[in-house]
Amino acid sequence: MRISVLSLFPDLIRQFVGSSITGRAQQAGLFALETIQIRDYAVNRYGKVDDYCFGGGVGMLMMAEPVWQAWRAACQNDLPPGGKRRSIYLSPRGKILNQAKAAELSQIDHLILICGHYEGVDQRVLDEIADEELSIGDYVLTGGELAACVVIDALLRLVPGVLPDAEAYNRESHMSGVLEYPQYTRPAKWHGRKVPDVLLSGHQANIGRWQQLAALKETLRRRPDLFQKQQMTAEEWLELLDLSDSL
Ligand SMILES: C[S@@+](CC[C@H](N)C(=O)[O-])C[C@H]1O[C@@H](n2cnc3c(N)ncnc32)[C@H](O)[C@@H]1O
Repeated sequence: MRISVLSLFPDLIRQFVGSSITGRAQQAGLFALETIQIRDYAVNRYGKVDDYCFGGGVGMLMMAEPVWQAWRAACQNDLPPGGKRRSIYLSPRGKILNQAKAAELSQIDHLILICGHYEGVDQRVLDEIADEELSIGDYVLTGGELAACVVIDALLRLVPGVLPDAEAYNRESHMSGVLEYPQYTRPAKWHGRKVPDVLLSGHQANIGRWQQLAALKETLRRRPDLFQKQQMTAEEWLELLDLSDSL
């Protein structure tokens, strides 16, 4: 997988992606990161990449030409035969990122992420190059760099080999539409709070059932909107109600 990020602050992206788990995956060659400095394609020798908005308004807008040229540079890379390329503009107007979208993007051979700054980017170049727009939430950031890092982090976790074991992410929140069950580590008693007995029992079937029900209970408590989408059998309902005191 190849990820190209078009940005006015590429160091932010390189620093973030080069750290921790994503950094190790990068060193292991599980994906390649390329950052493209949009200012390298400025329209004059003073590095101009932005201008005033037609029609007035406060703030500057990134010009179409530097973004277009930076995108063309990213497209120079060869795709494997039948490979998929996707260009995404990070934007508060975009569809909100979720786990299903991260999984979809983890299958793309060449992902191009376009980070805006200032008031955003001239619409004409977006219409020409962006396949879609993605937001990381209903709030406005100063630039697309943080959003690009969030997208990259979320999708890389799902690329085979990035985490040591697929189990590590298959049980996580949102993978199967529910939140993760509570987890505990040693000591078994801390500040008078005990780890649930079943987790110390060594009985794998009971532990699995407890985790499944605890995940449903957490989802019901914290995200009733997600819980409503669960298809639960009558038996599961009874079990959940029966066990709810011990969870
Ligand atoms: C200050 S914002 C521009 C906001 C734009 N004027 C608007 O109201 O929609 C600058 C850049 O930050 C990025 N950005 C801001 N909020 C974002 C969000 N919630 N998700 C993804 N990218 C965001 C976009 O790339 C955007 O071009």
